[in-house]
Amino acid sequence: MTQPSPENPPPTHPFDGISQDASIQELTEVFKEFNTFATSMEETYRKFADKVEALESQIKEKDEQLERKSRLEALGEMAAGIAHEIKNPLGGLLMHAGMLERDIAKDSQEHRFITRILTAAKHIDDIIKNMLSFTREEAPRMVSTDLADILAQVRMDAAHVAEEKNVALDFSFESTPIYADKAQLRQMILNIVINGIQAAGKGGKVELALRSEAASAEIEIHDTGEGIPQDALSKIFNPFFTLKEKGTGLGLAIVHRIVTAHKGTIKASNHDNGGAVFSITLPLESR
Ligand SMILES: Nc1ncnc2c1ncn2[C@@H]1O[C@H](COP(=O)(O)OP(=O)(O)OP(=O)(O)O)[C@@H](O)[C@H]1O
Ligand SMILES: [Mg+2]
Repeated sequence: MTQPSPENPPPTHPFDGISQDASIQELTEVFKEFNTFATSMEETYRKFADKVEALESQIKEKDEQLERKSRLEALGEMAAGIAHEIKNPLGGLLMHAGMLERDIAKDSQEHRFITRILTAAKHIDDIIKNMLSFTREEAPRMVSTDLADILAQVRMDAAHVAEEKNVALDFSFESTPIYADKAQLRQMILNIVINGIQAAGKGGKVELALRSEAASAEIEIHDTGEGIPQDALSKIFNPFFTLKEKGTGLGLAIVHRIVTAHKGTIKASNHDNGGAVFSITLPLESR
């Protein structure tokens, strides 16, 4: 409280001092309230800013999905037409080249030529098959099944390729009931495992682990290859993106489509100890 002085005479009214005290107290209260209000405003603003940021990233993701979808649709129509036209003459070419290969003496120059023709024609056949499977855009036929059965199938499907390339397959899974399209899931996981085998190379390994939560299953596939180049990470799911001499670049585009049709998610990254990691999350029940 201010001391009385000539400039500051003592209060004339006995309650003057009390009312000054009271107004300082009131002011302090108001300041306190203001501070609390300011803090809560700051918090609201921070929450608001976070929400805006999350929405912005959602919009960006949706934009990318939309762009991918329209690109795939345009590509799909064109590819389906071309693939269909090529399929039949190519079948004839493969059949006759196969007959010639059997008839021509094995160590002749002609045999080497026909083998090369056959290899190239088979490569075109693979591209056509992948394109047709990619563009068929079949809605998944959802049934109650077990992920363990699908993974056991994939291990069998991949076994001969792995053996040929001297790559070990290390799959770990338990019975996990799921509602899904069996053939599509099998193709989807096989495509990733085959990529893993190709990347791991001689003496390498492809590990697959299945974990399940209450409502979803996570499949993680890790290989001991060189990993995915940083600048390719955002492109690997695009149709026709390939860094392989004989790749069609459709394997992971098919994978992406199947995962999306099952309302799942897929993420590709590189492991700290090297090699690529693909993490797929699938809902166990349809939503
Ligand atoms: N496990 C992996 N390790 C390193 N790179 C990978 C791996 N999986 C995919 N990639 C990269 O992603 C590209 C696209 O893969 P995708 O399966 O779509 O096509 P592809 O394997 O090249 O051809 P296709 O599968 O049609 O025969 C590959 O060419 C490769 O560069
Ligand atoms: Mg592939």
